Amino acid sequence: MKGLILCGGKGTRLRPLTYTSAKQLIPVANKPILFYAIEAIRDAGIYELGIVVGETQPEVRRAVGDGSRCGVKVTYIEQEAPLGLAHAVKIARPFLQEEPFVLFLGDNIVREGITTFVERFKASKPDALILLSRVAEPQRFGVAELREGRIVRLVEKPKTPPSDLALVGVYLFNHHIFEAAEAIGPSWRNELEITDAIQYLIDKGYVVEPHMVAGWWKDTGKPEDVLEANRLMLAAIETRIAGEVDDSSNLTGQVVIEPGGRVVNSCIRGPAIIGEGSLIMNAYIGPFTSIGPNVTIVNSEVEHSVILTDSTVSDVPERIDDSLIGRNVVIKRSQAKPLAIKMVLGDNSRISVG
Ligand code: TTP
Repeated sequence: MKGLILCGGKGTRLRPLTYTSAKQLIPVANKPILFYAIEAIRDAGIYELGIVVGETQPEVRRAVGDGSRCGVKVTYIEQEAPLGLAHAVKIARPFLQEEPFVLFLGDNIVREGITTFVERFKASKPDALILLSRVAEPQRFGVAELREGRIVRLVEKPKTPPSDLALVGVYLFNHHIFEAAEAIGPSWRNELEITDAIQYLIDKGYVVEPHMVAGWWKDTGKPEDVLEANRLMLAAIETRIAGEVDDSSNLTGQVVIEPGGRVVNSCIRGPAIIGEGSLIMNAYIGPFTSIGPNVTIVNSEVEHSVILTDSTVSDVPERIDDSLIGRNVVIKRSQAKPLAIKMVLGDNSRISVG
């Protein structure tokens, strides 16, 4: 079997972060989301991976390289525009050839991995195996309608959902999916939809099996999803102190301090992770916080947040909570009059002042 990870797309819902960066490379517990997908596929015994890339190709290539660091062999497949998941499958045919494959959306995290699904697919050999999970807001997802345990219909982001069973962003297919991807036309949003391709398989009488995901999964399309995925991943970390913590600091719960990280006169309440070369001084870091590499937090409090590389938070009087902060961001208290909030924000930034 082969693996196909989709890393094209626009990532509009994660702007402004995605103006400058691939959404699949946003870190969760300080590891890019994409790496969870690569590792899940590798752990299922699949080592030949295709990665579909779009505009952010250089960044994805820089992060993943030839895959050898993760124990896989990666082939990059360029998609000229985000023309849909089924379009991505179609252009990957020369790489996939006739082999069955797992299709994994590069912004999805499946906590339990995919080994059981791959084993079930190998054992029962359907034409497609679709992963489903019950969700609170099915209107946001592709939704499946089941009858007597069989999928009868799939609808993309339905206004009136036929069920609360959302399609998880992991699918297993054999070569019949190419016939489907060739046969369907673009949807109202001008994309070749994978749901339409699977519906084609169902209508033609191919065997499409549903499989319920038992554990949690996350489609990290929106900032709050990234924060939730971060919370869920951090819940499983174990304490590891590879950096320095001075005597006047206080660490409780599960805390990771990466090499070169320094904690001075601060309180860290885990689960939390402090990245390489970061400095936490006279600060409070609360539960479910991931601080990326080379970040400085001084005289400030941060909780339930993700802060990316090279950012600085200093002398901020209010606690920062529920926040997703990008690279090279500076948040500081200014003494200059007038004492107003002064901002330089990219398009689509969001600030909530308490
Ligand atoms: P989506 O989240 O459906 O689309 P998007 O990335 O464009 O995001 P937004 O809706 O916020 O604009 O895509 C799911 C995954 O598939 C994501 O990792 C991007 C990838 N993708 C492709 O590789 N090619 C495509 O043509 C599309 C539509 C998505």
